[in-house]
Amino acid sequence: MLEWLCLVHAILLVASNVSAFPDWLVEEVTTKTTLTKTPRGTLLLSNGLIGREFLLTPDFTTIDFYSYQKQSSLLRAMSPEAVISLNDVSYNISGVLTGVPRAYLNRTALAQDIHANPRAFHYVSHSTSAPQAPFAYKPKRGAPKDIVWPPAGLRLDVRFRAPFGAPSVHQEVTVVLHYEMYNGIPLMAKWLTVEAPSNAQENINLTILAVEALAVNWQWAEQGYNWLSIETDQPHGTEVQWSIDPQQHLMPGSFQYNVACSFKPIPSLPLTEFSESFRVHELVHASNDPERVGLAKKRKLRLLAPQTQENPIFFHMTDSSDKAVLKLIDQLYEVGFEMLIYSFGSGFSVESTDEKYLERMKTIISYANSKGIEVGGYDLIDWTRTVKKEWRADTHSHYQGACYASGWADFLLERVLNFVNKTGLSNLETDGPYPGYECHSTNHSHHNNAQDSVYKQLMLQGNFYKILQELGVYTNQPDKYFYQGGSKTAMGYNEHQFSLPRWQDLSVSRQGMFDDTFDYTPTVGWMFLPLVQYHGGGAAAIFEPLSQHMVEYEWGLAQYFGAGVAVCYRGYRVYDTEETKMLVKKWVDFYKLHRSILTSDIIHVQRADMQGIDCFMHVNPRLQEKALAMVFNPTDMVQQTNLTLPLYYSGLHSTALISQEGAPPVAMALDRKYNVEISISLKPLQITWFLIQ
Ligand SMILES: *[C@@H]1O[C@H](CO)[C@@H](O)[C@H](O)[C@H]1NC(C)=O
Ligand SMILES: *[C@@H]1O[C@H](CO)[C@@H](O)[C@H](O)[C@H]1NC(C)=O
Ligand SMILES: *[C@@H]1O[C@H](CO)[C@@H](O)[C@H](O)[C@H]1NC(C)=O
Ligand SMILES: *[C@@H]1O[C@H](CO)[C@@H](O)[C@H](O)[C@H]1NC(C)=O
Ligand SMILES: *[C@@H]1O[C@H](CO)[C@@H](O)[C@H](O)[C@H]1NC(C)=O
Ligand SMILES: *[C@@H]1O[C@H](CO)[C@@H](O)[C@H](O)[C@H]1NC(C)=O
Repeated sequence: MLEWLCLVHAILLVASNVSAFPDWLVEEVTTKTTLTKTPRGTLLLSNGLIGREFLLTPDFTTIDFYSYQKQSSLLRAMSPEAVISLNDVSYNISGVLTGVPRAYLNRTALAQDIHANPRAFHYVSHSTSAPQAPFAYKPKRGAPKDIVWPPAGLRLDVRFRAPFGAPSVHQEVTVVLHYEMYNGIPLMAKWLTVEAPSNAQENINLTILAVEALAVNWQWAEQGYNWLSIETDQPHGTEVQWSIDPQQHLMPGSFQYNVACSFKPIPSLPLTEFSESFRVHELVHASNDPERVGLAKKRKLRLLAPQTQENPIFFHMTDSSDKAVLKLIDQLYEVGFEMLIYSFGSGFSVESTDEKYLERMKTIISYANSKGIEVGGYDLIDWTRTVKKEWRADTHSHYQGACYASGWADFLLERVLNFVNKTGLSNLETDGPYPGYECHSTNHSHHNNAQDSVYKQLMLQGNFYKILQELGVYTNQPDKYFYQGGSKTAMGYNEHQFSLPRWQDLSVSRQGMFDDTFDYTPTVGWMFLPLVQYHGGGAAAIFEPLSQHMVEYEWGLAQYFGAGVAVCYRGYRVYDTEETKMLVKKWVDFYKLHRSILTSDIIHVQRADMQGIDCFMHVNPRLQEKALAMVFNPTDMVQQTNLTLPLYYSGLHSTALISQEGAPPVAMALDRKYNVEISISLKPLQITWFLIQ
């Protein structure tokens, strides 16, 4: 085992070979993900940005997790790869035994003292394949045409069997760990499946106690510098838990961090009812700069939930009479909107089976489609939804609603599919998706009791979004079912801000959007503009009559189209005069002309405080239009100032061609920090924009 001596050295050599690689957030990293057998006999899964290395003997286990960007190791000790229990007997999935203290990896000591844990599941074989897509998808509705799906990378499947001496029925079980690493991004995913012959499946209850367990060096821990984000692909029902090593006699005084990913609550399921675990996403930032961390998370979302990049311009219609709807369709066509959504309270019913109503909706939707406009509608699908008694969730808490693992899920899906099939509806705004509650009922068709109720409800709710996504239906859902196919969520606002007087609403909303776009792409979140009254606020809050509030209406259009963020313009008309029509058209045209850069991620230049100018800027090094900065003067005074635009993430190196509102561009040199300073002069309440190439 003397080769251990060379391990650290060898990794540093690998690192120095690739240390000249570009910043992956700015330049394309072309290195592909590979699995190689190292001279030491270990397996290395690497994409040039990160590498995870596994021992094969004495058993399969992670022996390093390395950041080539930081040239440093995340891993400080070995842990089991996963932990399960079969009929209440718990098993580590691999893992080795050693007397080496856990505080840090002493590879010299390890070389002298390492052996397989006789009670753990052991490595049998491994294989690689291309990543598979969790749902079918093709870019549309303005999403980048060059989306690669399934994401490019490499999947490693590792199979394990029960230890000698385990009960014979456990010997029939194969646990498969799946590791997937993606090209050009320091990201990997991990999940677990279990295989057994069908006769054995009936006699085995499975509990997954941990899908991932890592002992990490302090700077990577959430409580340290937080250089590593670990998230799961589920909106509910899972837990990423950071903890410190339990104190033992071997390592008194060492308080080092571990992370474990598990279900919460943890279900115990007959193997026949288990399909796969959630996925753990491990994104290695090697930084805690909020802009960098945010850009990386947004890249992950774009990569693994590509449908969230669609961004139709939609309108929320409050009047469902055919006459009003047909009139609105003509208006939307005139100004270039792309989707009409029957709003809450409009009387729209996706659950209807009334053939006459379906026929009527089909006529309207066909008319809208003939003008290039899609049609969708609102439905409250689970949380706070009143359903018949047999389908209600028995939550033992203040949470009320339907159980998504009852017959309700079948009923809803059937009704929705019927409506979509008969009418051509292509958006569904599913309010109140399953919010994660337990259901204590023991007589629902898709779960046994409380302990498996969260797992089953999540699976069914996720499956609902997947089915709609594959049918091409765009789903607004105020939750995070993105890795299951959901399209868009609320930006993170407080609904009541839209009842504030117009200028307050616009200002608070611009601030909130600025903050939320650290974590959100412009296209994954929607905002709201109350043309008619939403929660309250009366005449001071609403934008109707539009022609009487042209300045505020234009601010709304400019700040939202300028952010690339779709908005529920909620009312019954999008313009009321020729002048307001031209106003709307101006900003729709602007959005369509610069759609790719406007839907690219945002750099946070100057947060609005209403004391002077504020600014956010889109960047995308892969486009010809590398950056677009929106600048606002919300004050009643002329603002004259110099504004520093940080262009590092635009990919520009030395010179920027900067054009204000389409004027001939001015060449400016970038300084040593990739910044340019532009001089700004804005009249009271003026908005301007700069395109940078
Ligand atoms: C599983 O691994 C942990 C951590 O290494 C160890 O403490 C525990 O004893 C192991 N359990 C079994 C059943 O082998
Ligand atoms: C590493 O282990 C070796 C062998 O047990 C020991 O001599 C050495 O002191 C250890 N080094 C550190 C830094 O713990
Ligand atoms: C599996 O769990 C169920 C419910 O807890 C229990 O009734 C059953 O006996 C268990 N099966 C086995 C094989 O342990
Ligand atoms: C509706 O369902 C029928 C029967 O499954 C199918 O043949 C038809 O293509 C569907 N129509 C649409 C518009 O999806
Ligand atoms: C189902 O269980 C609930 C309690 O969880 C009970 O109130 C209800 O009457 C049961 N329904 C049927 C049809 O058995
Ligand atoms: C802006 O920068 C120019 C050139 O550096 C300088 O002369 C001018 O005083 C600055 N203006 C303001 C308002 O700071």
